Amino acid sequence: VRRPLIAGNWKMNLLRAEARQLTRGVVAGAGRVPRDRDLLLLPPFTLLDAVGGELGSSGVRLGAQDLHWESAGAYTSGVSGPMLRDLGCEFVLVGHSERRTHFGDTGAALHRKLRAALSAGLRPIYCVGESLEEREAGRTWVVLRTQCDEVLRGLAPQAMAGLTLAYEPVWAIGTGRTATPEVAQEAHAFLRGSIAREWGDSVASEVRLLYGGSVTPESAAGLLDRPDIDGALVGGASLRAESFLGIAGAGASA
Ligand code: 13P
Repeated sequence: VRRPLIAGNWKMNLLRAEARQLTRGVVAGAGRVPRDRDLLLLPPFTLLDAVGGELGSSGVRLGAQDLHWESAGAYTSGVSGPMLRDLGCEFVLVGHSERRTHFGDTGAALHRKLRAALSAGLRPIYCVGESLEEREAGRTWVVLRTQCDEVLRGLAPQAMAGLTLAYEPVWAIGTGRTATPEVAQEAHAFLRGSIAREWGDSVASEVRLLYGGSVTPESAAGLLDRPDIDGALVGGASLRAESFLGIAGAGASA
């Protein structure tokens, strides 16, 4: 049984006072979210300490948006896995499309980052997704397969089973154009099937698959209802406690 995970990716937003206020709002409402769902906040590096302090023992998890592939050394501006663990992070995003597009993260670099996250004891959330051009050219499955192959190759079954994968079609990110539950489910089923072929059915049945891309409280229930959608990776709507909590509680039977 996969526990749904609702994660808020704050991207490059908020100052400390705003972050504390938002976190307090999430913590205050977290009790109304069904107990079988996990909540996770992914603030920028500068806010991790403040947000972690507010989260305290609330049960809401903390994670980061990126990490360096080395654990320490002469890498000016780098932030390593052990540093994130030291700040109380449990999760870390790897391969968000904005990292690929704006920072040039390649498959080879992401492979190293994923390994670094695992060796630091962090739980990676590996992000994949096709662009609009790729979808329209009928290349979606090739792109997803390549993104998985490049980065997940050689992963031990146990590490793979503990992994979270986020399907974030680039055309749905920040565009207000959410994938329909059918389109998202189709991609998630493809990803789970690919994992099953490589690592076996039992591993594939354990991997959590999140959908991300313009998720709102209105669209969340239909998405979370699908058999292979195990949660959401929320951008814009995670910057307000009310909408993030609305997504977290969406469609849950009382
Ligand atoms: P939006 O929810 O703002 O579309 O962002 C999605 C995303 O990129 C989450 O990682």
